[in-house]
Amino acid sequence: MIRIDSVTKRYPDGTVAVDRLSLEVPDRAITVLVGPSGCGKTTTLRMINRMVEPTEGGILLDGTDIRQQPVNTLRRSMGYVIQNAGLFQHRTILDNIATVPRLLGTPKKQARARAAELMERVGLDAALARRYPYQLSGGQQQRVGVARALAADPPVLLMDEPFSAVDPVVRKGLQDELLRIQDELGKTIVFVTHDIDEAIKLGTMVAVLRTGGRLAQFAPPAELLSAPADAFVEDFLGADRGIRRLSFFPSAELELETEPIVAADADAETIAARSAAPYLLVTDADGRPLGWSEPDRLTAGAVDTGQLLDHGRPFVPGTDSLRTALDGAVLSPTGRAVAVDGEGRAVGVVSQQVIGDAIRAAHSRAAGAADAAGAADAEAVR
Ligand SMILES: Nc1ncnc2c1ncn2[C@@H]1O[C@H](COP(=O)(O)OP(=O)(O)OP(=O)(O)O)[C@@H](O)[C@H]1O
Ligand SMILES: [Mg+2]
Repeated sequence: MIRIDSVTKRYPDGTVAVDRLSLEVPDRAITVLVGPSGCGKTTTLRMINRMVEPTEGGILLDGTDIRQQPVNTLRRSMGYVIQNAGLFQHRTILDNIATVPRLLGTPKKQARARAAELMERVGLDAALARRYPYQLSGGQQQRVGVARALAADPPVLLMDEPFSAVDPVVRKGLQDELLRIQDELGKTIVFVTHDIDEAIKLGTMVAVLRTGGRLAQFAPPAELLSAPADAFVEDFLGADRGIRRLSFFPSAELELETEPIVAADADAETIAARSAAPYLLVTDADGRPLGWSEPDRLTAGAVDTGQLLDHGRPFVPGTDSLRTALDGAVLSPTGRAVAVDGEGRAVGVVSQQVIGDAIRAAHSRAAGAADAAGAADAEAVR
């Protein structure tokens, strides 16, 4: 574990970049530092690998002050990724990635084999190995930066706005890739961003810093969204806080209705038996949703699928959140969301009202859990 213990950084010109910051960075998880420009994120990150030395306070790695080991040994245990990747322009992609293993004395052939393996891991085509950085897109260069940082297999990764310079679609791809790699490798990652959505998506824990390098809140993302510590954090989280919080509530417990589902070739009897519902979901022969219809507009035996109302975006109970379910219901003109299984076959439908009830239940459960945690804390203090 990395423990930042009441660290202050005052630059020689008097600027206080970080002010008595204390944080416990959990092992094998992503801890995000987020905050407005100039709030001390980069300074904090650089103090962890000693590119910057604190003015006061200290940083412990697994209980030992990081100043107790040679700085090179420390840095070898910490991969570092920066915006625009910071690649060596005169080296090929493969040799960029192999840099640190080569420095550590790994034979060239072995280092290159490791680099090739990492290219695959970060989703880079092997055909790019012999290219130079300027021959790659921004997103590809960032992937090389991540691969290079992973090359010596350090337990810690420090990432300073690694995905800020690429467009939103590429950025989403890089974020998903990082989460996947993290699932496999379980690094201790400290990730800096000024993008609160990125922080909420990637962070196990999120530290919100305010200008002057002071910690505003340190909490898991769901807790930031449900209980921002003050007006600054609330403001920084921005609009749609309530909607975004729904991403943390599972859809698995939504009560699904199955009666209002009919196949496109359903006979008159089947349709009549289900016509109590205001809308029926019509599926194809495999059970995949085609769209909605009012029961009396359906022609038995041969539904005109061109007449159906859009079924919105289906959700997968157990995988998707209440946010996705609500989105599906809001997108459909019937106000109902369609639940599908992993193969895309309809397993039920659910109305906005039922989703609304589930949201209220989830809120009160979360509030109950928070109260219980608060009571346990109070008990522990006593
Ligand atoms: N070498 C330096 N000398 C003096 N002041 C510095 C130095 N480096 C950074 N600062 C100042 O310290 C403060 C924090 O800088 P830092 O780079 O840590 O911010 P940041 O949160 O990473 O910002 P950004 O989001 O813009 O990257 C800023 O006011 C900055 O001007
Ligand atoms: Mg910075």
